[in-house]
Amino acid sequence: MEKFVVNGGYPLTGTVRIGGSKNAVLPVMAAALLTGEKCVIRGVPRLSDVTAMEDILESLGANVKWDKRAGSITIGAEGQLFPEASYELISKMRASFLIIGPLLARTGDVKIPLPGGCAIGARPVDLHLKGLSALGAEIEREHGYVRARAKKLEGAKVYLDFPSVGATENIVMAAVLAKGQTILENCAVEPEIVDLANFLNSAGADIRGAGTDTIKVNGVKELKATDHTIIPDRIEAGTFMVAAAITHGDVTLTNVVADHLKPVIAKLKEANVSVSESGKGLRVCNENGAGTVASDIKTLPYPGFPTDMQAQFMAMLTTARGTSIVTETVFENRFMHVGELKRMGADIKIESRSAVLEGVKTLMGAQVKASDLRAGAALVLAALGAKGATEIDDIYHIDRGYFQIEQKLNGLGARIERVAAGAATAEG
Ligand code: UD1
Repeated sequence: MEKFVVNGGYPLTGTVRIGGSKNAVLPVMAAALLTGEKCVIRGVPRLSDVTAMEDILESLGANVKWDKRAGSITIGAEGQLFPEASYELISKMRASFLIIGPLLARTGDVKIPLPGGCAIGARPVDLHLKGLSALGAEIEREHGYVRARAKKLEGAKVYLDFPSVGATENIVMAAVLAKGQTILENCAVEPEIVDLANFLNSAGADIRGAGTDTIKVNGVKELKATDHTIIPDRIEAGTFMVAAAITHGDVTLTNVVADHLKPVIAKLKEANVSVSESGKGLRVCNENGAGTVASDIKTLPYPGFPTDMQAQFMAMLTTARGTSIVTETVFENRFMHVGELKRMGADIKIESRSAVLEGVKTLMGAQVKASDLRAGAALVLAALGAKGATEIDDIYHIDRGYFQIEQKLNGLGARIERVAAGAATAEG
């Protein structure tokens, strides 16, 4: 077990390159199961969630080969696939359930453990299963597993009650090799859905409308080899933008798509942080940091404000002038960072699905614990802006979604050390 020791109060300056998107690469890796031919995926971030998906694909009989220098992987799922995934592997990460759609399309009979609850909410998979069932799969739940069977999936009309990202991805992947047309309505419109559709189309699928709330998939007989580059990670980008703002720094991000960050940029500007686009990248400057002002936030499916940026913004708003109200509508239990931010001196009250923040002058270093990936990122940000040293435990959550976050931040002037848990505090 490792922890971070962060010495706060240093403005971040310089340029940072953002990696490939975690939430785009995981479904694309699962989708590679749909073809027996080789898929090259580029711009792959070296995250523990990617390793977890790699282990799952290999347990099913696929071959995953890394070229770490190039940042690419090649997936080959040539032979017959083993249609059953183990609980140990699936329970590590909810996104593993994304294999059910492609594995069912490929093998016709699969047994996958239910992903279960997780720290930020119950996160059921009813919508995934509703979609697969509409495509003709026979679904049974037995002893914590889902068994799905279909000799041949058939295109159908599916309406999602909520635009779930994972359900949209699973249903699209299952529909790609189905007979006939699938029309998916009220589906998710996240950039990661568009990336998945681009990957599949480059392999020979016929998917139209990705990025709108209606996707049409015309089933094809087979998919072929392809070569695809993953989009930049908009959440890693957003996290570094807040890092610049919270430390009163001046940071330029490269490998970003500003269009994917519209709600994040709008809210930073509303808080009085300067964000500008240039040929070099996206520049975030808050050298006049004392001027950061309160702002209200409500998380929503894309293109609304991302729930995956809620915790990081809250870290920033703890010291913004005035009262901010942060409302979480996507997950029912995503305020676990609040208790930890309060340990650092934040003034926050939770009222049902909203948190009311009264800006304080400064946060103070303390001992805190990451409860999940984005809550952990928020604590790193809070610590960067705080006075003194902060120790953050359980940082394995952070490694799930950020590759060497401390090295990237230290490259901009931060002072973060990764130490074995139990080791003595560095400075302060
Ligand atoms: C994905 C992202 C995650 C992000 C989330 C929302 C990946 C790997 N993860 O997660 O980082 O926070 O989108 O932007 O891409 N729901 C149901 N039934 C279902 C499925 C979902 O009720 O069958 C509910 C969930 O409980 C949750 C909401 O829908 O309240 C959103 O979940 P969903 O969009 O499915 O998120 P994920 O795909 O799990």
